[in-house]
Amino acid sequence: MTTVADAKPFHWEYRPEAVARELFRVEGGQPLEGTVTISGAKNAALKLFAAATLTGERCRLTNVPEIEDVRVMADTLRDLGIVVDHPADNVYEIASGDVEWLFVPLEAAAKMRASFILLGPLLARFGRVIISNPGGDRIGRRPVDLHVEAMRALGAEIDYRNGYYFARSPGRLRGGTVRFPFVSVMGTENAMLAATLAEGKTVIQPAAQEPEVDDLIEFLQSMGASVQRTKPDTIEILGQKRLRGADHQVVPDRIETGTFIVAAAVTGGKITLNNAPCDHLGAFLDTVGRVGVDVSCHGDTIEVDGSGLRDGGYKACDIETAPYPGLATDLQPPTAVLLSQANGTSRVHEAVFEDRLEWLTEIRRMGASVEVLDPNHATIDGPSQLVGTEVEIGDLRAGASLILAALAAKGTTTIHGAHHVHRGYENIERKFRDLGASISRTAEGTADTSS
Ligand code: UD1
Repeated sequence: MTTVADAKPFHWEYRPEAVARELFRVEGGQPLEGTVTISGAKNAALKLFAAATLTGERCRLTNVPEIEDVRVMADTLRDLGIVVDHPADNVYEIASGDVEWLFVPLEAAAKMRASFILLGPLLARFGRVIISNPGGDRIGRRPVDLHVEAMRALGAEIDYRNGYYFARSPGRLRGGTVRFPFVSVMGTENAMLAATLAEGKTVIQPAAQEPEVDDLIEFLQSMGASVQRTKPDTIEILGQKRLRGADHQVVPDRIETGTFIVAAAVTGGKITLNNAPCDHLGAFLDTVGRVGVDVSCHGDTIEVDGSGLRDGGYKACDIETAPYPGLATDLQPPTAVLLSQANGTSRVHEAVFEDRLEWLTEIRRMGASVEVLDPNHATIDGPSQLVGTEVEIGDLRAGASLILAALAAKGTTTIHGAHHVHRGYENIERKFRDLGASISRTAEGTADTSS
């Protein structure tokens, strides 16, 4: 019996469902002006859905972003026999009384890696689950070994066969020490979700410090869980026999916030962001401040003045991504677009993932002076006049950043693969249009793709 995933886990030829491909057409060069309201955070909402399976009682989530990943999560839960209602825009109600089918299939993992967050809660509540390994090379090389080891530390038995993890726990999971070799956001969250129903005390260390993890802690506490962040990098949980239903409002999306801050900065515009607390954006705001973008914070409102662009006043700046409170890897692509408009050479160190600089070749096609030195390092020489051309989106965050580059560019940019962006940004083209951007989205026929 194999206990860890092999590099090519699937024993059959899996072909992802055909995705309706779309393209954006952007006419650049227009300074953005006006007000935009930031949606709830994708990376919080998905985990809150998973947490709702820890109780049979109804949970109600508000400020949920209307994005593709949330729809995939809702459908994945419905396939298990869970009731997921969507009574109004941005509101979801989840009732996990009857779960008929403790099986999370390959289709769910292929559409969204975050489906693996269901491992912890389903195992803790029902004592067993079969869940597809999302780490296979067909859908991006992202291991889940830390999640699996965390479950084992809580007493679960987990085998791996034919692309699936078969997890069971003969009785309740047992609280224990979950020690990660490095910080993992979803690894922390999976361990924490499982530990809420385990017998006894669990300590997670080092625990991820992302605001979305704290949002999950808050929701779990209102469900009756005993979960505390006792030190910045330590979470302690005292397992309960059962949890109750609760209501929760999803925290605003700091990555969407950063995306719109860069939009104002690279178009030389002036915008106000609502539902956008600054306190989750420290390292990013420090970077844009060093570049010379004028950003001011007032409670949940942020004002960005990009007039420094027109005066040629943006300065190069070296950046390095890191787990929170460091600069978020999800904000590396937008920040790189900003650096393409700054005077001088900026060095980019992507320290969290190994495949997150590949998209830079697309902004190079638009005229950015970028050199990718290795999978983790690049340099950007600015400022460059970006010019509209045809580009292709490879993943969600790169997609939003190509829109930013197109907004800053002269002429028309055609961005293929627009469907990737809808995985994580609610109504992105409408939000940009409301700020005066010229952006349209059209169908591109269908083709096989997976995210
Ligand atoms: C989450 C976010 C993603 C963000 C990332 C880092 C969600 C749904 N996604 O992803 O948007 O970019 O945090 O802030 O919340 N790793 C392992 N083994 C594991 C798990 C992770 O080696 O079992 C590695 C990863 O390859 C990566 C690093 O650990 O190099 C950090 O990844 P992690 O924090 O786990 O990212 P996610 O939680 O998957």
